[in-house]
This record gives sequence, C-alpha cells and structure tokens, in this order.
Amino acid sequence: MAPSSCFLLLLLFTISATLVESSPAYFPGPNAYQISLAKQAKKTEPDFPYKTHFFPQVLDHFTFQPKSSKIFYQKYLTNDHYWHREAPIFVYTGNEGNIEWFAGNTGFMLDIAPKFQALLVFIEHRFYGESMPFGNDSYKSAETLGYLNSQQALADFAVLIRSLKQNLSSEASPVVVFGGSYGGMLAAWFRLKYPHITIGALASSAPILQFDDITPWSSFYDAVSQDYKVCFKLKETGLSLSLSLRI
Ligand SMILES: *[C@@H]1O[C@H](CO)[C@@H](O)[C@H](O)[C@H]1NC(C)=O
Ligand SMILES: *[C@@H]1O[C@H](CO)[C@@H](O)[C@H](O)[C@H]1NC(C)=O
Repeated sequence: MAPSSCFLLLLLFTISATLVESSPAYFPGPNAYQISLAKQAKKTEPDFPYKTHFFPQVLDHFTFQPKSSKIFYQKYLTNDHYWHREAPIFVYTGNEGNIEWFAGNTGFMLDIAPKFQALLVFIEHRFYGESMPFGNDSYKSAETLGYLNSQQALADFAVLIRSLKQNLSSEASPVVVFGGSYGGMLAAWFRLKYPHITIGALASSAPILQFDDITPWSSFYDAVSQDYKVCFKLKETGLSLSLSLRI
C-alpha cells in the first residue's frame, strides 16, 4: 500500500473514531403515553369520590399465641356510585404502600365499574399506610415484623370481604380481585387460595413466576437487553432506509 493511501486510511479512521466518540448516545425520549403514565404515577389520591373505613382486623389468622387475637385497624376505601345490591364487587388487593395511591392509579377498575355496576373496594395491606398493627412501633422488631407476610395479608382480605358482604346483605355478589405488581401476585394467590370468596383475579405486571428455581434470576435483564437489541436494529433499519431515500 502506498504511504499516501495509508495516510488517508489513518485519517479516515481518526475521523470516524472522533465522530463515534462525539456523537451523543441515542436515548429515545419518553413518548406521549409514557409521559401520561409518569404524570399518573404522581397521583397520590384517587380523583373519584370514595369513603374511608377502618375494619377491626385480627393480627394473627393462624396461631393461638397470646398476641394472635390482638386487633388492629385496617383501612379500606369504597365507591358505590354504580353499585346496587348483589351486583359485582371489585376489590383491589393492596400492596406495599398507601391504599389511596393504588386507588388513584388503578383507573381500569373505575373504567369498567359502570358496565358491571360494580362496587369498588380498595383494601390497604397490613403494615402500610395507616394500617399499622403496632402503630409507630410496627417496624421496630422481628417480633412485630413477623406479622408482615403475604399469607396474613391474604387472610386479611378474606375476612374483610366476607364481613363487608355480610354488612351489605349482598352475599350473592360475585367478587373479582385486581392488583398490580406485588398486588397482582396477591390477587392471583387470593384466587388460588380462597376460590370460594372470589370468582376471578386480574393480575397485572405480577411477577408470579419470578422466584428462584422457577425463573432464572437474570430473566428480567435478558428481556430488557432483548428489547434494546430490537430497538437498536429498528433504529439501524430506519437509518439506512432514510439514507437510501435521500440518495
Ligand atoms: C407516630 O408518628 C407520627 C409522625 O412522626 C406522629 O405524628 C404520631 O403522633 C405518632 N403516633 C403515636 C401514637 O405516637
Ligand atoms: C361490618 O359491621 C360490623 C358491625 O358494625 C363492623 O364491626 C365491621 O367493621 C363491618 N365490616 C366492614 C368490612 O366494614
């Protein structure tokens, strides 16, 4: 190779290397849907009217230890705008946070309530929001935290729903449970464990199978990487397409 072409090649390499280094990484900005989701996620209160209730809930559903019959007050919200007696009851099985937040961010239940004339119920998970079995000391020790688990939470939902149906004289109302994320896991588990209380569950974004020995721990990151790979390929295709159009 002649020295001049070598120089040209080197120059080309340098230019392309500089171009690669200086061109900013491609990160697509959020689209309109993602922006609306982000706005929604900031909601801390439902934008529909609701009533707040506190249900005297039993601390321990499974043992006869001295503390097991202790009562704490479990918060739940209701909206009966579309409801009439014996029409369906839609229950959100609350997950890790204030129940108002989940009520404010589960518009789907509200969207379909008129069609089903459903009663909307949002139950707070024990140890979250205002449903603290030991008040401000709830998180202080292993002894109190031992009562924070999904089995107890599911039993809370079962007891509360039965009591509510009795109080409303609406035992024949079909109950459907809803949840997202851990709340979705709770909804699905609730349907499995208490099939006599609910006729169905809608589990949204619920990592029910995301446990050791069922799903490899890396599967989430594999899915994300795969998404990026597809995005990158799409971008490449788009780029060559626009280049060939220009030519
Ligand atoms: C619990 O803590 C909150 C916030 O720090 C406080 O306002 C409230 O009075 C406390 N409750 C009790 C029962 O000590
Ligand atoms: C049903 O009524 C009883 C008696 O008034 C009350 O203690 C209980 O909290 C009510 N149940 C629910 C789910 O609100």
